Amino acid sequence: MADLIVGIQWGDEGKGKVVDVLAQRYDYVVRYQGGHNAGHTIVVDGHKYALHLIPSGVITPHCINIIGNGVVIEPHALIHELEQFGGAEALLGRLFVSDRAHIILSLHGELDSSLERQNAIGTTKKGIGPCYTDKIARVGLRACDLRNLYECGRDSEQGKIIIQKLSKRLQSFIESLDSNVEHSTATGNEIARLLEENLASLESAAKILAPFITDTTALLWEAQEQGKKILLEGAQGSMLDIDHGTYPFVTSSTTIAAGASAGSGLAPRDIDYVLGIMKAYCTRVGHGPFPTEDSGARGEILRDKGAEFGTTTGRERRCGEFDALAARYACKLNGCSAIALMKLDVLDHLEELRICVGYEYKGRRIEYVPSDLEYAKPIYERMIGWAGKQCKGVKDYDALPEEAKAYITRLEELVGVKIALISTGADRSETIYR
Ligand code: IMP
Repeated sequence: MADLIVGIQWGDEGKGKVVDVLAQRYDYVVRYQGGHNAGHTIVVDGHKYALHLIPSGVITPHCINIIGNGVVIEPHALIHELEQFGGAEALLGRLFVSDRAHIILSLHGELDSSLERQNAIGTTKKGIGPCYTDKIARVGLRACDLRNLYECGRDSEQGKIIIQKLSKRLQSFIESLDSNVEHSTATGNEIARLLEENLASLESAAKILAPFITDTTALLWEAQEQGKKILLEGAQGSMLDIDHGTYPFVTSSTTIAAGASAGSGLAPRDIDYVLGIMKAYCTRVGHGPFPTEDSGARGEILRDKGAEFGTTTGRERRCGEFDALAARYACKLNGCSAIALMKLDVLDHLEELRICVGYEYKGRRIEYVPSDLEYAKPIYERMIGWAGKQCKGVKDYDALPEEAKAYITRLEELVGVKIALISTGADRSETIYR
């Protein structure tokens, strides 16, 4: 059986820390969607690791880490990330990449930036959306193509098919940049140049990554048969889900628990326990509805004390109050078994706490998340904070200020799920288990 960790807000809930803390109990940690748009900073004994694609189990020596078929991979970003562990060799046998995962090409990044200029979503501009677009359009390159390029070479049957696919893709890319493009010699030369550039880049990446690329679905089935413990690690958050999030201001993958099966090859019934991760307040990056956003002093305090700046882009995160309706919605979508409440210590600095318990929507009060969340205004319940006392670094539930315990109890009532883990600081040790 597998357990699952999923973000239930707009991402950046602190999933990386939870996976890292829990990884010791698992044999395998699996990423199943997203790409290097995700970012975790994990702090162990004061040492910081920045992870984007590699599962957070990498910090735990006995853990095997899998990048599943649902992930989109920018090969050079992965290679760069491997460097902080002493290079690729250091992780051979501990990291496996699905041969079915799709590859992000440089043109995907360029398309992402150009689409942003036309219609701003606030993406990370990493090429995630355009790569998933190609996957669905059935014109993408996969990690197995990368492996074939390395194993068989560009002059082999497999190599020629890859070149053909890549040329076609580059041709339509150039046409999309300039709709007046004719099949002229100039265009032909440009495609030849881009083709060589892309092939060379893929070949150099393939040399390093080929030993990691394998059928990870089969690997996971085998692990299951051997009774190994598997942890599935979600990226982004439920409110950024392509179907259930604040469309179109969402990421391009299924971020909720349902995506874990498709993105790993494990059957839905093999996922046993779902731990939802939420912060004690809310943040989001990029554009789109965020009813509880506070663009004043409270938001500033949360950003400052919570160090709310993107790990991937360095962008300031938008900050605001805890949204109990969004959290309850996400818990239902994911079937959360329990919750991990992160960054409780950041609220040490607020005299008063506000929880969104309803929305004013088209002239009435509602208590659910509408598909057009942009028309919802928050209705708050207020609670006394614990300013002057502190949650920071507390490791025992009973040692928390009474006001903090009352806040936790109220969140559990509103969200309808038990809070099983509370984080009171960035370090592994600053964690309460209930
Ligand atoms: P994309 O995933 O780069 O296409 O961006 C789409 C939306 O998802 C934007 O609002 C991004 O800011 C957001 N997003 C993507 N990855 C993350 C993440 O790891 N944390 C929070 N937001 C994210």
